[in-house]
Amino acid sequence: MKHYSDIIPDKSHTFSKAHHQYPKGISPLTAKKAYGSKLVTNLGEYTDWSMGLGPVIKGYNFKPLNDHIIKRVRSGIAYSLPSDFEFDVAAKLLSAVNFGESVRFARNGSDVTSAAIRLSRYITKRELVICNGYHGWQDWFIGTTTRSGGVPESIKSLTKKIEGFDSNKLKEMFHSSGDKVACLIIEPMIGDEPNLEFLELARDLCNKHGSLLIFDECWTGFRCHKEGAIGYTGIRPDLVCYAKAIGNGVPVSAILGPKNYMHNFEEIFFSFTHASDPIGLAAADFMIDYLDHNFFDALTLKTKNFFNKIKLELNKIENPKYKINVTSYPGKIVLSPFEAKMAIQLKTFIQKEFLNENMLFNMFFAMCEDHDDIDIDLALNVIQNIVLKLNAEYFDLENEVKGQLVSPVFRQQK
Ligand SMILES: Cc1ncc(COP(=O)(O)O)c(C=O)c1O
Repeated sequence: MKHYSDIIPDKSHTFSKAHHQYPKGISPLTAKKAYGSKLVTNLGEYTDWSMGLGPVIKGYNFKPLNDHIIKRVRSGIAYSLPSDFEFDVAAKLLSAVNFGESVRFARNGSDVTSAAIRLSRYITKRELVICNGYHGWQDWFIGTTTRSGGVPESIKSLTKKIEGFDSNKLKEMFHSSGDKVACLIIEPMIGDEPNLEFLELARDLCNKHGSLLIFDECWTGFRCHKEGAIGYTGIRPDLVCYAKAIGNGVPVSAILGPKNYMHNFEEIFFSFTHASDPIGLAAADFMIDYLDHNFFDALTLKTKNFFNKIKLELNKIENPKYKINVTSYPGKIVLSPFEAKMAIQLKTFIQKEFLNENMLFNMFFAMCEDHDDIDIDLALNVIQNIVLKLNAEYFDLENEVKGQLVSPVFRQQK
């Protein structure tokens, strides 16, 4: 197949969409089109639970959104001047999230998290960054991972990562180097309900040491709540970054903050040709209205009911080696094996079971409005079968996944 040859390194432009993230031999390799919660692939139609790695919060190919974008395209794109539309969408975004006074738009999550880092370094005249999750592909973050090839050592040493919401580690870092910390950038929730104590500590430490607190809401923004994690937790950062769901899959991202910080973008360089692309802005313009409080009430309830049922099933796993944890916040449910050394085998096995029922699953459910009761019931059936198999007397996990293991995204730190 021409499109599956080596002309594209890794045969994918996104690591988490690549062939090595799905079990070998039985997984679809390419998508042809999508609608609602369905993905039409080279192997037929699948219910998608990844939803483009999070952005597609309404569903694929939503006609009113498409029409809104097409109307904008008919006015031309890539203008050589800023458009009036940028100011309209910026004002709409500020009022929707009830945070900040000023906005810069971009295309990807990595654009805005990196802009936030540069801005915090410029404001504080410090270099050290502390982070806690995944924040994009740029040097400043990827240098903290095991896939840091090509990142200079001097850059690596400027970012320190804590695991999740480790309060002690955070205190230690601020205690030893607080006067060097430009910012603490955090995913405020990582596939689970917020740790409010940690978030309050983060806010206090940043206040005390003169560091900026940045919420990376690329996942949580426009997913857990209309006002994202800021609205959901009540903790207010200094800057916030949105991406993914704000465009329902159309690339658009934004950084927001108070004018006294954001005006520094007039000095520091954060500029690229398609930063205010009208297609992305049209998607945001439409979605900010569409994602109203009724939308989030319904998505929250759907997620909660599904989560409770999954939890009930997974609690029936008997063998401690095969135990699987399930966590959730509104709009997202995450499965994670308890035993780190079983993680890849269990992940592969679970993915296979979903694939056998024509569902694409990558250990999280990115819930969208178009996931209906049928999708959910079928997924629950798969989970029930997984539990039955894991509990069966002669179940042999190693044999089940032989030759089909998926790759870890970031290898275990040595
Ligand atoms: C929390 C978080 N921040 C930043 C990013 C980077 O976004 P992008 O891949 O759009 O550059 C991601 C991507 O998955 C993310 O999950």
